[in-house]
Amino acid sequence: MKKNLGVTAVIGVDWGDSGKGRLIDDLAQEADIVARYSGGSNTGHTVNNSYGKFALHIMPSGIFNTEATCVIGRGVALDLESLIEDEFEQLKKAKVNWKNLSIDPQCTLTMPWHKLRDGIREKFRRAKIGTTGRGVGPTYADRVERIGLRLQDLLAADFAQKLKLELNYQNKTFGFKLNFEKVLVQFNRYAKIVKPYAKNTLDIIHMGIYEKKNILFEGAQGWFLDIDGGTYPFVTSSNTGTVGIWRSFDLTPNYINNIIGITKAYTTRVGNGPMPTAISGPERDIIIEKGHEVGTTSGRTRDPGWLDLALLKYAVQVNLVNQIAVTKLDVLSGFTKVNLCIGYKINGKDTWYKSGDAQELKKCEPVYKIMPGWKEDISKVRQFKKLPKNAQNYIKEIEAYTGVKVTFIGVGPKREEVIYA
Ligand code: GDP
Ligand code: IMO
Ligand code: MG
Repeated sequence: MKKNLGVTAVIGVDWGDSGKGRLIDDLAQEADIVARYSGGSNTGHTVNNSYGKFALHIMPSGIFNTEATCVIGRGVALDLESLIEDEFEQLKKAKVNWKNLSIDPQCTLTMPWHKLRDGIREKFRRAKIGTTGRGVGPTYADRVERIGLRLQDLLAADFAQKLKLELNYQNKTFGFKLNFEKVLVQFNRYAKIVKPYAKNTLDIIHMGIYEKKNILFEGAQGWFLDIDGGTYPFVTSSNTGTVGIWRSFDLTPNYINNIIGITKAYTTRVGNGPMPTAISGPERDIIIEKGHEVGTTSGRTRDPGWLDLALLKYAVQVNLVNQIAVTKLDVLSGFTKVNLCIGYKINGKDTWYKSGDAQELKKCEPVYKIMPGWKEDISKVRQFKKLPKNAQNYIKEIEAYTGVKVTFIGVGPKREEVIYA
C-alpha cells in the first residue's frame, strides 16, 4: 500500500471518524503532496505519532512529513479561527513547521455569522441533525448562493468594504450584534498570517500529476454523510467521496490509481440519523469505553453499531474503492460473538440502501451473519497470519462480501500499530 502510492485517495465509507487522520499520517511519509478537498472544521482527524497527539480540523494530516506540500483545496470551508488559533498552536508546541502549506484563494471563509446561524438553524429544526456547530452548513449555503467571502476577498484591498456590507446584512437579517471593527481587526490579523500560503492549488495538483508525484487526497467525514448520496437530511453539506476531489481540483477519477475506503471494524455515528445496526446493551458501553468513542470535534459520545457490510459495499462501488482499510480491530477483542450486517429487511422483504435517503433506512431491519469472536489482545500483532483465526475470518468475510482486499488493519491508535496485509 505505501510503496505504490501514486495518486491515492482515502475516503470514509461510513459516517465518519474511521481513523482517516492516522492512515493519512502514515501514508503521507511516502507522499509529495497531501490534499484536503472537502469539509471544514467539523472534521476532527486524530494523529498519534512521535510528535505527540493532535486533533486536526482544517490542516491536512500529512503535515508531519515536512517535505510534503500540504494543500487545502477550494472545496474546504476555511475556518481560519480553527486553523490559526488552534491548529497552528498545536503544531507550534510540538515544533512541527507548516511552511509547505498551500491554501486555495477560492476557499470560502467560515465567518463568525456562519457559526451563529448553524446554532439558530439547529434550534428551529423539527428533526435536529446534531451538527458540530462549526458553521459548515451555512458556509456552503453562502458559497452556493454566491455571496460567500473567499480567501481572495480577504487578501484584496477592498476587504473592509465587502466585510461591512455582508456583516450589516447578517446583523439586520438575523438580529446579530456582530461588531464590524472587531471582526475586521480579527480577520486583518488572519490575512497577514495566511497570505504567504495562498496559492493556486489546481496548478500544484495538475503539475504534480504531470510530474508523476505521489499525491494523497485526504477525505473528510464519510460517504453516508455526503450531501447527495448520504442519509439526507442527516448529512453534512459537502461531497465527501471521490466526487469531492473532482470538484476541488478539476481532477477526474481516472487520474486516481488507488481509492482506499476506510472504516472501523464496527461502525459509529455521532449526531442524529438512522443506523440500522446500532448496538444496545452492555456491548454498547464496552465499545464506547474501549474505543474511546467520543467525538474529536464536538466531544459528544458516538453511537456504536455492528459493521454494516450492506452500506460498506454500496460506498465501495459508487466511489470506485479498490482497497479497504479497517481500523480498531483491537477494540473487538473479547466478544464471544461479532455481527456483520449482510442485508436488510422491511416487513420481511429484502431491501437495500436507497441513495440519499434516511426515511427508508430508518425502517430497515439488519440481517446478520454471526461470527465467532476472539479473546486475545491483538495490539502487538503486525502480521495477518499471527492474528487469531476468528479475527482473520472476520477480515476475510469483509473481503468476500465487498470483493475488495483489506490492505490495512489498525490494531491501535499509534502510527506503527498496524498490519499491512
Ligand atoms: P477520523 O476523523 O477518520 O480521522 O477519525 P477520528 O480521529 O475522529 O477517530 C478515530 C479515533 O480512533 C481516534 O481517537 C484515533 O486515535 C483512534 N484510532 C484510530 N485507529 C485506531 C486503531 O486501529 N485502534 C484503536 N484502538 N484506536 C484507533
Ligand atoms: P471526520 O472528518 C463524524 C456529522 C455531525 C452531524 C452531521 C452534520 O472527523 O470523520 P455538520 O457540522 O457537518 O453540519 O454536521 O455530520 N459530522 C461528522 N461525524 N465525523 C466527522 O468528520 C463529521 N463531520 C460532520 O455529527 O451528524
Ligand atoms: Mg473524526
